[in-house]
Amino acid sequence: MALRCDLILRDATIIDGTGAARVHGDVGVTGDRIVATGDLGGWAADREVMATGRVVAPGFIDAHTHDDRAVLCGPACMGCKMSQGVTTVVVGNCGISLSPIRFSPKMRPLPPLDLVFADGWARFGEFGEYAEELRRSPAPVNTYALIGHMTLRVEAMAGDTQRPATDREAAAMQVRLRDALAQGASGFSTGLYYPPSKFAPTGEVIAIAEALRAARGLYVTHMRDEGVGVLESIEETLKIGRDAGAPVVISHHKCAMPENYGRSNETLALLERNARTQEVAYDVYPYAAGSTVLMLHVLRDDVPVKITWSVPHPEMAGRWLHEIAAEWGTDNKGAAERLLPAGAIYFQMDEADVQRILKHDLSMVGSDGIPHDTFPHPRLWGTFPRVLGHYARDLGLFSLETAVHKMTGRTAGVFGMVDRGVIRAGAFADLVLFDPATVRDAADFDAPTRPAEGIIETWVNGETAYVGGAGATEARAGRLVTRHQSGAVSGGLPAGR
Ligand code: ZN
Ligand code: CU
Repeated sequence: MALRCDLILRDATIIDGTGAARVHGDVGVTGDRIVATGDLGGWAADREVMATGRVVAPGFIDAHTHDDRAVLCGPACMGCKMSQGVTTVVVGNCGISLSPIRFSPKMRPLPPLDLVFADGWARFGEFGEYAEELRRSPAPVNTYALIGHMTLRVEAMAGDTQRPATDREAAAMQVRLRDALAQGASGFSTGLYYPPSKFAPTGEVIAIAEALRAARGLYVTHMRDEGVGVLESIEETLKIGRDAGAPVVISHHKCAMPENYGRSNETLALLERNARTQEVAYDVYPYAAGSTVLMLHVLRDDVPVKITWSVPHPEMAGRWLHEIAAEWGTDNKGAAERLLPAGAIYFQMDEADVQRILKHDLSMVGSDGIPHDTFPHPRLWGTFPRVLGHYARDLGLFSLETAVHKMTGRTAGVFGMVDRGVIRAGAFADLVLFDPATVRDAADFDAPTRPAEGIIETWVNGETAYVGGAGATEARAGRLVTRHQSGAVSGGLPAGR
């Protein structure tokens, strides 16, 4: 009896996402699932792909994105991710989610809400409406959603957000979060670093996060301080997680600003100690520069800044701030004032910290790519191939198996994504085929949108989503992925107390 499936990848190097050593063999897919792995010599398929010398891995999970709007605008918008082998994105990070909020058309979203909002996009009054739009008009990749604190605040506090929320307002936000979790959102994110969210005291966040307990949702945070106060911010984050009974994910972990270089030794020790008694993980992007909106109060002479977009001066995207200042006969601050509202890249990290944070067992890979920037940080197009090529293969920071684990199995475990992030019979057929000898990021700070090299094909739920050299297909096979509701998921280190 001949066994049949839709697709077989033959003679591949299989890296299964669990961190286990590679094996050689075949992978068979029918419909949206992997049906068999190993020696499929007795099987036939409608399509067979010879994968000799190539790696098949679970499709990569981007643990940290601002793709809330990008997932709704068709395959072309997600080429940046699919060209890296990404098949699932976590949206709603840093306190900013596209739902649940409805603005009147004349109300303009203030920075940093404009990371995801644009005119006409504040139209999902419930998370369920956003989920429904993803069903009706599917994204090319899977979407996993967090609800942003800033979004909840703008609504609950009627725009008057430069202060702590009252108990009543916090209670209203808790209800909105609980409803969103019931409608398919999986966690709660904050961006306590940003004005106006920084006016929220710890107690406000705990009061809202209480909604996570019953839903077993995650607490995810761009912490209040990634610089001199980074240890205190980690303590605050851990407390919020404990008090709300929620697992914690620290976003884009870093030690920012020159006076804090080297302090990842302290932050990682603190996280390790606490990981024995509470669930904690973090995501990280593989670059020593960050990017967000341009903010006057963070400008300093020892941190070079590159402009990523500017409303009054769009022609300055991609230019160094100090060069613009010289051209205009002013200083950095004066130039920045004229560029606002704008976005920027800040060269504010130490490479040794980046490597130490990336290498640690608690890490997951997340791009933090900003999809709507004119001249984006190269992490948008380069993160995953950079970890595979530059850090694993070229620098030998860890094995390729570990690199893949940090972008698949570990991430699926932390977020509670069932049957994803792993290659085994029965799992969803989110897959990437790449050449381990040539895979590399081609995007850099001068040419930030050059597609990665070495990614041969990407499948989402069994459908080809991207073909190297040809680009994104028309497939829109992505689904809303939700956190599983049945008990604890280990973050990779011993959990429980
Ligand atoms: Zn952030
Ligand atoms: Cu972010």
